[in-house]
Amino acid sequence: MRIDLGFSPGPFDELQLRERHVVVIDVLRASTTITVALANGAREIIPVASIESAVKISGSLFGEVTLRGGERNGKMIEGFNLGNSPLEYSEATVRGKSIIFCTTNGSVAMSKSRYAKSLLIGSFVNISAVVDHLAERRDDVLLMCAGRLHSSSQFSLEDAVCAGMMVSKLEKLTALELQMSDSARAALALYKAHGRTPLKLLKSTEHGEYLTEIGFGADLKVCAAVDSVPMLPMLQGTSIKIRKDEVEAPASRAGAA
Ligand code: MLT
Repeated sequence: MRIDLGFSPGPFDELQLRERHVVVIDVLRASTTITVALANGAREIIPVASIESAVKISGSLFGEVTLRGGERNGKMIEGFNLGNSPLEYSEATVRGKSIIFCTTNGSVAMSKSRYAKSLLIGSFVNISAVVDHLAERRDDVLLMCAGRLHSSSQFSLEDAVCAGMMVSKLEKLTALELQMSDSARAALALYKAHGRTPLKLLKSTEHGEYLTEIGFGADLKVCAAVDSVPMLPMLQGTSIKIRKDEVEAPASRAGAA
């Protein structure tokens, strides 16, 4: 099994990704928020790459069962129902809903990977569920960090450390013979240097500091809680859903009351 890793989606194009199994990692906050929303009973998440696509798609759907969620500069987009804080995606708000989801980096990476052989959504909150699935399947995989600011595809430390934690967990499953790209090795080293206390890490990263500044400091605790939402969100057709054979987690375990 070979693990490859992208520190941002920039270098990959849709055609290349058709041949790959992909995990998109956006710890702050798209991957976390999607996992929480699905655990709290959302029917599906439809990731889109632009606000225009979100508006176009939702125009053809029924308002009562469809919500628009996402952010620009961390804040809710005008005309949307929800922002990108996992705390907003409570059971009362999302149960049974289809959510069209548009964020600066995470949903762009997901949309880019829509033709991949498989697409999983990974973060600290569901890391063991993702790793167990990868270990069971034993196929080569690309861990794709969503990064920051999609137009310039910048590095994001929290995504790289989470990816490194995935590599470390896979490595510990000793039955697996792992081959790693240089980037996977680099992420593993970053995890060893910075990943022991995820909350401390998130508070110190550029995006963590920014979210705290704009009033979303409470999100960091939700996003740092390793294995708190043991779900496996997976692209099925055009939307992300919980893998069918999984049992639903109670809302109290899923970050939002
Ligand atoms: C993104 O997709 O860029 C992030 O999830 C941004 C955010 O923290 O809302």
